[in-house]
Amino acid sequence: MDAHKSLTIGLFGFGVVGEGLYKVLQQTPSLKASIKKVCIKNPGKKRNAPDSLFTTDKDELLNDPEINVIVEVINESEPAFEIVSTALKNGKDVVSASKKMIAEHLPELLGLQKTTERSFLYEAAACASIPVIRNLEEYYDNDLLHSIKAIVNGSTNFILTKMFEDKLDFQQALLLAQQLGFAESDPTLDVEGFDAANKWNFLLTHAYGIVIPPDALVFNGIQNIQAGDASVASEKHYDIKLVAQAKKLENGKVAAFVLPQFIKHEDHLAFVKNEYNGVVIESGFSDKQFFYGKGAGSFPTASAVLSDLSALRYQYKYEY
Ligand code: HSE
Repeated sequence: MDAHKSLTIGLFGFGVVGEGLYKVLQQTPSLKASIKKVCIKNPGKKRNAPDSLFTTDKDELLNDPEINVIVEVINESEPAFEIVSTALKNGKDVVSASKKMIAEHLPELLGLQKTTERSFLYEAAACASIPVIRNLEEYYDNDLLHSIKAIVNGSTNFILTKMFEDKLDFQQALLLAQQLGFAESDPTLDVEGFDAANKWNFLLTHAYGIVIPPDALVFNGIQNIQAGDASVASEKHYDIKLVAQAKKLENGKVAAFVLPQFIKHEDHLAFVKNEYNGVVIESGFSDKQFFYGKGAGSFPTASAVLSDLSALRYQYKYEY
């Protein structure tokens, strides 16, 4: 165990989340965490940080003995897996926000965490500012968790809100989601439900201890929803939302899917608008709980990375 060392970070990715983390760390000196190097793909781009911070050589980070934490926010599945697994094997703790990679590799990553005795944390990979992974993992007993109903993709929720409340058309709303940094670089991942399905996949592992092969989950996106659908829904006092849902059945199995649904105006999830996410949990003894917060965007996502760094500090007695 590395007693009382400061957190020296090697950061992979300087997009919406990476740059957000850089700024957030500058405003949180009490965490005693500093970014030593940032690995990027495109060195020519103008960035709001000193040039000396950047490299394109991943080994400069992965093989630097002074770097004890790798933060990986590149959000490309296979390259991210390569970085994360090498970092763990090299004795570094890892924080990641790459949801597709986590959905596709979770059992291997949890195995690596065990064999390397390092931590792999990824609170930023689902619902950004809502601490949903930690709560599902630590707060609830699997057996008592009756159902979860959630909005886990900020972009589609933003697009639906803008279409139905501000009367933007689909393309205008999507463009705005891209400009505000909510959408994936390939926005069909949001619109067609892939991003929500990836997040739902590993959230279900934390909720129920089940591992679902990535292509086994039933899901759809909002690609077939028309502006006119909203007037029909609202006349009947419903909203249309992209909802991830899971329910424990009497035989102990879990039924789960991600689909657009009509949501009654008085339902907690109807309160979730724009890029916000929400999670409604029903469980034995605690009854119903509702978690709510920003689910996409630079600072809300960086805040979850920050909370993982803070968790590492306590777990491993880094300096504080
Ligand atoms: N594109 C994602 C979303 C970003 O809109 O939810 C946050 O994971």
